[in-house]
Amino acid sequence: MSQDELKRAVAEAALDYIQVGEVIGIGTGSTANYFIDGLAAIKHKIEGAVASSVASAERLKGHGIPVFELNDVAGISVYVDGADEATRHLHLIKGGGGALTREKIVAAASRKFVCIADESKLVGRLGKFPLPVEVIPMARSLVAREMVKLGGEPVLREGFTTDNGNVILDVHNLDILDPVALEETMNNITGVVTNGLFARRPADVLLLGTPGGIQTLE
Ligand code: A5P
Repeated sequence: MSQDELKRAVAEAALDYIQVGEVIGIGTGSTANYFIDGLAAIKHKIEGAVASSVASAERLKGHGIPVFELNDVAGISVYVDGADEATRHLHLIKGGGGALTREKIVAAASRKFVCIADESKLVGRLGKFPLPVEVIPMARSLVAREMVKLGGEPVLREGFTTDNGNVILDVHNLDILDPVALEETMNNITGVVTNGLFARRPADVLLLGTPGGIQTLE
């Protein structure tokens, strides 16, 4: 099976987590897109969705799925999203698509976070994938220097602005031994909006697409 076929299969498996009559959270990226496309066939079962990016909101609307603002819903039953890296502890690196801040907000507002990924995303230790960090534009150099102090090599994502009007530093070569501690340390750097570590609020379920079928880690 190709990577795309694995992404589609794992996205379809996540449809089983949908609760009838609820508002669900929707992530961003190619795996989340397969989930949105699968959701279209059962859209009558849900009240609607909260999207973690403008791109996902547009895709949902294109399928006729009602999209709500997070502030207008009482809560989200389940959030379904992909990841750039995932461990067996369900810690993640996200933000390859640049939507990390809204993804983290929707994940925080959700009772259950179901992460969907093809098996290539499973790693023993996070950090081979450069860690995306969303930064207020005027703090770019300040934050970059702090990232160097943490042992990373920050690279500005050229020509990219987030949905929130900020920039992304992709931080290479970090030694992520303690994802929870590093997530907190980075959150405390002035000028950082969010970092792409999802460890303080990890996934609750990790569905992995493999050629042998769907593997469930929880
Ligand atoms: C978007 O900002 C990311 O967090 C995505 O969830 C992540 O990059 C996974 O994307 P793919 O599903 O395209 O691999």
